[in-house]
Amino acid sequence: MSKTVNDILQQEVDKRRTFAIISHPDAGKTTLTEKLLLFGGAIRLAGTVKARKASKHATSDWMEIEKQRGISVTSSVMQFDYNGHRINILDTPGHQDFSEDTYRTLTAADAAVMLIDVAKGVEAQTIKLFQVCAKRGIPIFTFINKLDREGRSPFDLMEELEQVLGIRSVPMNWPIGTGRELCGVYDRMKDQVELFQGDDHSTIKVQKVDGYEDSVIRDMAGEFLHDQLCQDLELLDVAGDPFDLEKVLSGQLTPVFFGSAINNFGVQTFLENFLQLAPKPEPRRSTAGLIEPTNEKFSGYVFKIQANMNPAHRDRIAFLRIVSGKFERGMSVKHVRVGKEIKLSQPQQFLAQDRDIVQEAYPGDIIGLFDPGIFRIGDSLSQGSEVVFDELPTFSPEIFAKVTVKNALKHKQYQKGIDQLTEEGTIQVFQTVSFDDTILGVVGQLQFEVFEYRMKGEYGVDVQLQRMPYQFARWIIDDHIDPSKFRINSTLVKDKKGNYVVLFENEYAMRTAMDKNPTAQFLETAP
Ligand code: G4P
Repeated sequence: MSKTVNDILQQEVDKRRTFAIISHPDAGKTTLTEKLLLFGGAIRLAGTVKARKASKHATSDWMEIEKQRGISVTSSVMQFDYNGHRINILDTPGHQDFSEDTYRTLTAADAAVMLIDVAKGVEAQTIKLFQVCAKRGIPIFTFINKLDREGRSPFDLMEELEQVLGIRSVPMNWPIGTGRELCGVYDRMKDQVELFQGDDHSTIKVQKVDGYEDSVIRDMAGEFLHDQLCQDLELLDVAGDPFDLEKVLSGQLTPVFFGSAINNFGVQTFLENFLQLAPKPEPRRSTAGLIEPTNEKFSGYVFKIQANMNPAHRDRIAFLRIVSGKFERGMSVKHVRVGKEIKLSQPQQFLAQDRDIVQEAYPGDIIGLFDPGIFRIGDSLSQGSEVVFDELPTFSPEIFAKVTVKNALKHKQYQKGIDQLTEEGTIQVFQTVSFDDTILGVVGQLQFEVFEYRMKGEYGVDVQLQRMPYQFARWIIDDHIDPSKFRINSTLVKDKKGNYVVLFENEYAMRTAMDKNPTAQFLETAP
């Protein structure tokens, strides 16, 4: 019997997994990504990931690379096949590349892989990215990396996950020894041990055992390490959380895997477990209710717009997450906000360096659309009906600068640039209530650099940015705003929509203002 369109759609949805790797710089994200791509046979891409890494050290390099390649290297989506699955890894840039886009990209993922350095534990950037994922309640899988090095005890790290991130964890495997003594891991789910062999730890032997007390492990790992393993696992059996898929899928429990990306140790097991447990593309909320991926009508939303840094090509790329239906090159869809039909004729898929023209794509996939300036972040495209997906969240800026135009004659272009770049989500803009100064807010320094670069390149305006000492922005909901109440180490500003926002220099100033204004609400983002 031949398959119906719906059967094919269902099959394509079932095999897809779309996720982002969240971590602090240097935890090994590039290395892990490379290994994952290698499993998928996508060797061609691995080199590209390395090239990306070279670019992360200096912003000027990043600009150069952007220019040479024409299109962003900071926005790759990598796709590969493994064991009948189609996997989309959304890249979340770190270091200076960190920006609001990093957060927005997470909204297009159905799951996250949280990568942690065994010696360093939970670090600053991991916390921020985790919080964005936790707000959406997506499942988070933890990979504790660099097990070949001396690190902290697994129990210690589990406690930190709970204390710092507020998430319970369930170890799926457990190290046998650590650092130089590491000889392998015990897989708690499959009752097997995976042993390192050879000095470089490159060969791995997998052996089925009869529980962790099996003397086979003793013979292989020695008495000392086996005793330690038995003690640890007994404790986990008694005091640890049991595996509970429902809790994993709702983001309340994170499965933890131990491994060493550079030695390719534990990566394949991790990938296989992840593919089995992680959700397939999820439905998204819209004005027409939940839109299921198997809905035959194509729909999707723009979660990111990447400007082309190459002055010879002014176009931009809008990144679209497909929510439902089948995408076919050349199809006509409704651009709901502007109320027009548009033809999607030159879609791109971001196989790192190569920009392949996509012929077809399915829910969970990300496609890049050439954008002559018609898209905004959060725009919905849909076939046949007027589906509007929920607005994308905004994020509280943490770095601020006062902006002025160097040449007053250019004021008109300057204003146009600010308006468009704000709309695109490159920066957030505020006006001070007292002097009508313009203050820009961002979550990553790179956003300022992109802003400066694009103001000059696209609008011909030289701007001057002066860093301001603020660290927090809070939207104020209060019937009687009294500017005099927000003067100590803070300033009152308005956002684009005229909402009152207070910028604070430090946490103390913020707490004091909250205490002094007990009837006001202080929100992290616009209401
Ligand atoms: P990032 O993308 O998260 O910033 O991390 P990246 O993969 O670049 O890894 C950061 C450093 O950690 C690299 O070393 C990498 O080789 C190392 N690393 C990654 N995984 C492991 C692991 O499992 N064990 C050990 N011991 N090291 C690991 P580097 O010296 O900064 O760079 P490189 O010269 O090795 O490329």
